[in-house]
Amino acid sequence: MAKKATTLYRCRECGYETVKWMGRCPGCESWNSFEEAVLVAESKKRESSGAAVFSLSSVDLTDDIRYPTHIGELDRVLGGGLVKGSILLVGGDPGIGKSTLLLQICEKLGESRRILYVSGEESVRQIKLRADRLLVTTPSLFLYSGTDVEEILATARRERPDVLIIDSIQTMVLSSLSSSAGSITQIRECTSALLRLAKEEDVTVVLVGHVNKEGNLAGPMVLEHMVDAVFQFEGDKSHSYRILRAVKNRYGATNEIAVFEMTQRGLREVGNPSAMLLSERPENVSGSCVAALLEGSRPLLAEVQALVTKTGFPAPRRVATGFDYNRMSVLLAVLEKRAGFFFGNLDVYVNVVGGFRLDEPAADLPVALAVVSGLLDHAMPSALFAVGEIGLGGEIRSVIRLEDRLKEGARMGFRRCIVPSSALDQLTDVSKDLEVIGVKTIKEAIAAVRG
Ligand code: TYD
Ligand code: MG
Repeated sequence: MAKKATTLYRCRECGYETVKWMGRCPGCESWNSFEEAVLVAESKKRESSGAAVFSLSSVDLTDDIRYPTHIGELDRVLGGGLVKGSILLVGGDPGIGKSTLLLQICEKLGESRRILYVSGEESVRQIKLRADRLLVTTPSLFLYSGTDVEEILATARRERPDVLIIDSIQTMVLSSLSSSAGSITQIRECTSALLRLAKEEDVTVVLVGHVNKEGNLAGPMVLEHMVDAVFQFEGDKSHSYRILRAVKNRYGATNEIAVFEMTQRGLREVGNPSAMLLSERPENVSGSCVAALLEGSRPLLAEVQALVTKTGFPAPRRVATGFDYNRMSVLLAVLEKRAGFFFGNLDVYVNVVGGFRLDEPAADLPVALAVVSGLLDHAMPSALFAVGEIGLGGEIRSVIRLEDRLKEGARMGFRRCIVPSSALDQLTDVSKDLEVIGVKTIKEAIAAVRG
């Protein structure tokens, strides 16, 4: 077949391709990241009679075969289990627990499936030691320590596992390529070789990927676009809980999360994350308000804390953890202008307990109430939580899925909730034990919690 070589430039950071060299990558906006690559274009002069087509109604969706992991939280996030022949990526910081989780799922999975676990980071002995600690004993788990993808492909073709785990994709190499392990080219080519294996042999391939400094999966665009599903493993290493989040999922909903706790015996699923997040909440302390956030389909309660103190700096300090810094500044300005609270000579610290991020507009009201409570040194009633967006005019605006949030609050034993009054008439099914207080403005909200 005739081959024509063309010069091509490829972004080192994100894999963006262009025929003309550019100083700045349009894909990821990094500078001087283009490297020359050679593209071998195959001329497409083949004779072909065309491909088979399917009428919409003849496509059967029920034939996705799933391997349930029997870890309830995980199966929910996966959308029912690992899909046969799919390729998925589990990303996260080093040390967060990716290898632990994948080794743990082998135990139940091994009852009906053959698994090949390839580690480029640990020896077979080290994996066995870890498996012992995690009480993983299934005889259907086969271990292999190595990094050569050609060899892994050959091994997989011989051993015919149902599930192939690659820990981690950054350590894998195709020896035909000159670049080193972990480079964009290696990661991309190794992934596409494994992807072909997944599709040809109907093997489920699970890739582990370490997150780089910027918080992206290394080669983010390259990997995320190639695989069927991406799960991000998050958590604060100083806390024991971990969150697995579906970032992309061709076989299920995205933004679903599963919560785990890291214990001596590995990860344990947490069925009631609100209880965990609120478990250390102090009673009768000012500067605290509970918020109801949505994580995918699931409402969660989390505590917002605020500390307001006289500043010792020429310009007052503003620190937001788990909440957007700029959004906090806006809320402080609204509190000044629309409710008469002044922060000019005060440091303000806002913290979302447990390391969750409150990125939703619905968190405005609980954050503002925590700040005011901190400023006045007046504790809010402990069985109260708040939901609502705050507009620049100080008005409280409605938020999506208020009723689900109220249900979670009621379930967790909360007795009162401050909500946007505009949303009151949409509420149809609220527990009798929960008093729902509608407010129109931030001033009314503050009056409601103080009164
Ligand atoms: P690991 O799964 O090796 O992380 P990753 O593969 O994402 O790099 O997790 C390592 C951390 O988890 C390590 O700090 C020890 C801790 N850990 C436990 O607390 N309990 C356990 O049972 C195991 C296996 C690990
Ligand atoms: Mg690991």
